Amino acid sequence: MRIVLLGAPGSGKGTQSALLIKAYGVPQISTGDLLREARAKGTELGLRAKAAMDAGKLVDDATVLGMIRERLSQPDAVNGFILDGFPRNLAQAEALEKMLADLGTPLEAVVLLNLDLKILFKRLTGRRICETCNQVFNIYTSPPGMLTEKCGDKPHRLIQREDDKEEVIGKRLDVYEAQTKPLISHYREAGLLRVVDADADMNTVFKNIQQAIGTPAQ
Ligand code: AP5
Repeated sequence: MRIVLLGAPGSGKGTQSALLIKAYGVPQISTGDLLREARAKGTELGLRAKAAMDAGKLVDDATVLGMIRERLSQPDAVNGFILDGFPRNLAQAEALEKMLADLGTPLEAVVLLNLDLKILFKRLTGRRICETCNQVFNIYTSPPGMLTEKCGDKPHRLIQREDDKEEVIGKRLDVYEAQTKPLISHYREAGLLRVVDADADMNTVFKNIQQAIGTPAQ
């Protein structure tokens, strides 16, 4: 499986990636997670990315492409991958096509998680992450009881991402409209686009994705 999960901030890319990893045994490659990891470690790359991320803007293409090139060359990506949050603009999409052509492993599908703006906003403002184990929750939509589950033998330490604050969300959605949405017609023209209704519980969305890509789980 070699797919891209495309969709606005909060459309469920990370949530669905977790289900796809379990079912298909291929790694998720999330540029957002890689950048947050670099920030947490205080690397030069992470520090460079911080200002753009906190302002809801895209990190520069050279930084992101360098990271992706390195990640795709790792052994676990040989048998497939789920790209989450990448590509984010046409320049990144074209660079990805070239990288994958060089590796002889072209994309099989681009899955667009389609969701109304009002719901996106609610999912983003409600998202909380456990600082210890990185599990993602939602104060509005997580199943009852999930928020009080334990992290090891202690309660989860839930925090809100800096860019999930209301004042940054608007900016991220604007960036999606202006820079990422053009990828929809790009991939439609390439015959790779599969549109999935993301306005359902996570297991139903997962089934919709499986139907759209037509690849049976391992
Ligand atoms: P990134 O981390 O990629 O953020 P994003 O694309 O904005 O996506 P999110 O992580 O916000 O949402 P998601 O779609 O994964 O939703 P989730 O599953 O968590 O990027 C962050 C920043 O890094 C960018 O702004 C940019 O600065 C930089 N960056 C990253 N990639 C870059 C690139 N390629 N180029 C340049 N810069 C880049 O779900 C959201 C919430 O909804 C959760 O609480 C979840 O529990 C809940 N939920 C999910 N599914 C459902 C469901 N079906 N029903 C009910 N609730 C649900």
